[in-house]
Amino acid sequence: MQPPFLRATARAFANIALAKYWGKADISLNIPAVPSVSVTLGALSTTTTVSFHDGLGCNEVTINDAPAQGRSYSRVSDLIDRVRDAAGVSTFARVVSTNNFPTASGLASSASGFAALCLAAVKASRLDWDLARISALARSCSASAARSLYGGFVRLDAGVEGCSELSATQIAPASHWPLHVVIAIVSGKPKKLASTDGMNLTAATSAYYDAWVRLCPSIADAVEQAIRDRAFDVLGELTERSAMSMHALAMASTPPILYFEPATIGVLHAVWAMRSQGLQAYATMDAGPNVKVLTTAQDSTKVAQILGHVAGVQGVIDSPLGQDACTFDDAADVSHEELK
Ligand code: DP6
Repeated sequence: MQPPFLRATARAFANIALAKYWGKADISLNIPAVPSVSVTLGALSTTTTVSFHDGLGCNEVTINDAPAQGRSYSRVSDLIDRVRDAAGVSTFARVVSTNNFPTASGLASSASGFAALCLAAVKASRLDWDLARISALARSCSASAARSLYGGFVRLDAGVEGCSELSATQIAPASHWPLHVVIAIVSGKPKKLASTDGMNLTAATSAYYDAWVRLCPSIADAVEQAIRDRAFDVLGELTERSAMSMHALAMASTPPILYFEPATIGVLHAVWAMRSQGLQAYATMDAGPNVKVLTTAQDSTKVAQILGHVAGVQGVIDSPLGQDACTFDDAADVSHEELK
C-alpha cells in the first residue's frame, strides 16, 4: 500500500579528503576554488528520512533525536524549500536524521548529512534526478557532501565563479583497492571554527592562499593517478602534503586558525614512528583535531591498536571504504528505524 504522503529514506557515508578542498571560487554558489579527492568511509554513515506532510506549518528537523536549531536548522530547511520549489511540492517536510557514530565523538559530518538529506529529499519529492545532479545539489550545501554520494575514490573539481553545475565523480569503486582509514578520536568537542568560516578567513587573510590555489591541481591529479596505480606510498605522501599545506595556510590566517590539539601532534608522531618500523600509515586532518590514518587492510588492526595507546586518544575506529549513497530500499542491511 502507498503511504498517504511523500516519503523516502537515504543513507550516505562520510568521506575524508586525501587532496583537500579549502577555499571557494564563489561563496554564494558554494563553488570550490581547488579540486579535491576523497575516500568514502564505510564505518561512518548518516541515515535520513524526509516525509512531506499536509499538517505541518513549517519544516521540522530532528538530528540524532534532538530538534535542530539555529544554523543547522536553517541549512536543512533551506535545502528542503529548494527541493519543494523544484518539485512543486506545497507541503512542508519532516526530516529525521541519525548518525551511526556517537554525536560526542567530534565526527559529526556535514558531508554524509547533506548527501543523505539531498538524496532523501529528491526521492521523496519524486524528482527524476540522477546521482550527479543530486551531488551538485549537495555541493551547493557543503562542497565535501558532493563527494559522499559516491563510494570508493571520488573527485570534486574546482569550479568557476557564477557556474552552479558542479558535481563530484567517482574515480574508482571501493573494490578497486581495499584501503582502510583508522580514525583516532582526540576530542569530542564541537569544531572551534566551522570549515566555511575557516576557509573564508584563510582566503581573506593568509599570505599563502594564492600559492595553495596554484598547488592544489597538481596534488589532486597526482593523488588520482596514485589511486589508479594503487601506489600506496605515493598516495600517502601526497595525502600528508595536502593536509599539512592546508593547516599551515590556515595557521597563517589572522587571527590564526589552529585545529590541532596536543594529542593531534602525538598521533602524527606515532604515525611517523610506525612508518619507520615498516607499517603502511599516513595521516590527514580536517577542520578539527581528530586524525584519520590511511592504511592497508593488512596493517589496519595493528595501526588501530598502536593509535589506541597514544596519550590523549579517546577512541579509534577502523573503517573500510564505503559504497555509493543509496535509498532505503537498496540498503538492505541498515534501516533508519533500527538506528533510532
Ligand atoms: C577540511 O565541505 O565542510 O574537510 O563547502 O563550506 O560546507 P563548505 O565546507 P566543507 O569543507 C570541508 C573542508 C575539509 C577538506 C575536504 O573535505 O575537502
